Amino acid sequence: MRRTLIAGNWKMNGSRAALAELAGMAAAAAEHPGVDVVVCPPATLIAAARDARSDVIIGAQDCHAAAAGPYTGCLSAAMLIEAGATLSIVGHSERRTGQHETDAEVRAKAIAVMAAGMTAIVCVGETEAQRDAGDAMPVVAAQVAGSVPDDATADRLVVAYEPLWAIGTGRVPSIADVTEMHAMIRTRLSAKLGAETAAAVRILYGGSMNAGNAAALLAVADVDGGLVGGASLTADAFVPIIRAAA
Ligand code: G3H
Repeated sequence: MRRTLIAGNWKMNGSRAALAELAGMAAAAAEHPGVDVVVCPPATLIAAARDARSDVIIGAQDCHAAAAGPYTGCLSAAMLIEAGATLSIVGHSERRTGQHETDAEVRAKAIAVMAAGMTAIVCVGETEAQRDAGDAMPVVAAQVAGSVPDDATADRLVVAYEPLWAIGTGRVPSIADVTEMHAMIRTRLSAKLGAETAAAVRILYGGSMNAGNAAALLAVADVDGGLVGGASLTADAFVPIIRAAA
């Protein structure tokens, strides 16, 4: 009942030339209509990406909570929609860490994304120190409680679990740890949103997902897709992950 979603987050990488990679990704999306394929390029490329490929869902990497105003350098949900985005990542750990975004700010961004008619991918995940201290589960549970809007609906909400120590490192948690964490996230979503909504929300795994480990990660019961960084930058790296999801 939950469609698999494979989302590429290009982060601060890519130029107009990189949009050529979308052709191969779009072909894979067309081959596997049961998989939602998303690419979140830098905001400067959203419009061109939208124009280039209609069969890849184009998303943004961040969205301001306000509709308009004196927020230099920021982009509103309406601006992202006008550019061609239909979803936005919010609360990525690189923003929680680099821009000191709190759960409350992430929740406000998610509310703005959803109210504008887009889907929010709300990111959560623990640091290595938190995992080593045995605190991974309560840390992520608190992020879910604080970052997910109380009235979120399954068509407007995706949650991405990304342990910070797995991002860009080539390290991934054990399948047992991913299984335990995703099940806990769904339980927390159920408490917040109700069992029916929680059962329909997609929960992605992110952190060094690649062609070699995607199939095993995607086979976990509560893993409904992936949020892929480095391996989403080229069709050669991304397409095998799309295929593994089909
Ligand atoms: O948004 C994507 C994640 O941060 C994962 O990045 O696949 O390069 O580890 P990565």
